[in-house]
Amino acid sequence: MPAMPDLTHSLQHCNLQANIYTTIMLLFRILLVGFFLLASVDACSPSDRAALLAFKAGLQEPYLGIFNSWTGNSCCGGWYGVSCEPETLKVTDITLRGESEDPIFEKAGRTGYMTGSISPEICKLDSLTILVVADWKGISGEIPKCLTKLSNLRVIDLVGNKISGEIPSDIGNLNRLTLLNLGENAISGSIPASIVNIGSLTQLDLRNNRITGEIPSDFGKLQMLSRALLGRNELTGSIPNSITKMSRLADLDLSMNGISGLIPPNIGKMPVLSTLNLDSNRISGQIPPTLMSNGGLGILNLSRNSLEGQIPDVFGKDSYFMALDLSFNALKGPIPNSLLSAKYVGHLDLSHNHLCGSIPIGSPFDHLEASSFTNNDCLCGNPLRTC
Ligand SMILES: *[C@@H]1O[C@H](CO)[C@@H](O)[C@H](O)[C@H]1NC(C)=O
Repeated sequence: MPAMPDLTHSLQHCNLQANIYTTIMLLFRILLVGFFLLASVDACSPSDRAALLAFKAGLQEPYLGIFNSWTGNSCCGGWYGVSCEPETLKVTDITLRGESEDPIFEKAGRTGYMTGSISPEICKLDSLTILVVADWKGISGEIPKCLTKLSNLRVIDLVGNKISGEIPSDIGNLNRLTLLNLGENAISGSIPASIVNIGSLTQLDLRNNRITGEIPSDFGKLQMLSRALLGRNELTGSIPNSITKMSRLADLDLSMNGISGLIPPNIGKMPVLSTLNLDSNRISGQIPPTLMSNGGLGILNLSRNSLEGQIPDVFGKDSYFMALDLSFNALKGPIPNSLLSAKYVGHLDLSHNHLCGSIPIGSPFDHLEASSFTNNDCLCGNPLRTC
């Protein structure tokens, strides 16, 4: 029976071929699936891609080429400064900083410069949570009003540009916002009343703009706020009393505005306040004693106001001032002796007031120069003339 082995042989041969065939097909499928996975990992949705390209078209960046990578379909992969949510492939994050350690800047040996404006098309990125377009110096135009429809936004940082126009009046709709950084721009108009509804806001920087009007009287509703930087604007009206209810506020800068009225008496009872800059305003009345006895306050600048009365004699062993500047006011009476019991006074400026009497002798005063005391009515003793 010679046929039998032949038949078995060809059957075995057939089996082997089938096995090779399935293995090849399997490998091919794995490759195919892998290819699609890879391709889709960095391709964002077509509408997001169109919005990004419109955003790019509104800006000119001549020196670094940060938008060079913004071509093709892989907007969730290689596009500089863009990130997506990996499951949905929606753009969540645009982070473009003009001052950065990124190799792109090192290679160019310069900081960034960009002109143009932020296209309202950016509002079509409906999953956007972080928008940072900061320190490009030349970006002008307005903040797109439609930005307040992006309810997932947590960070808006447009600091250090030439952005003008007003803060959108319904900014308060962005109830997930933690950081609103619009400092160093040319923004005008007033602080929108709705801002107090951003319950999650921890940092507000509006410094160095042209913002007018009053600070909303219910500003203290911002219970999560730890930094409120409103200096170098044209704010008027008085400091709202509600501010003293802000239990997390550590840094309050209202300097170089047109703020008048009194300092709220309870401001020194704020639990974590460590820096208070009220300098260069039109604040009148007396310095609240709570402010001087607050052990957590490290920097206090009340310079260039219309403060009168005496310096409260309530310093204690908890007082620790890196800087205490009361210069250019109308303070009278003596330098309080209790200042000698302070744990530390780094920089002290009492010049340009109407103080009188002998400068206390003790360690907090040893290192101070005459300039700390000059231009008063009748102060005497070291480092000024002997009494
Ligand atoms: C306090 O404010 C004045 C006026 O705005 C400024 O000139 C001064 O340098 C400030 N003092 C300190 C210690 O920063």
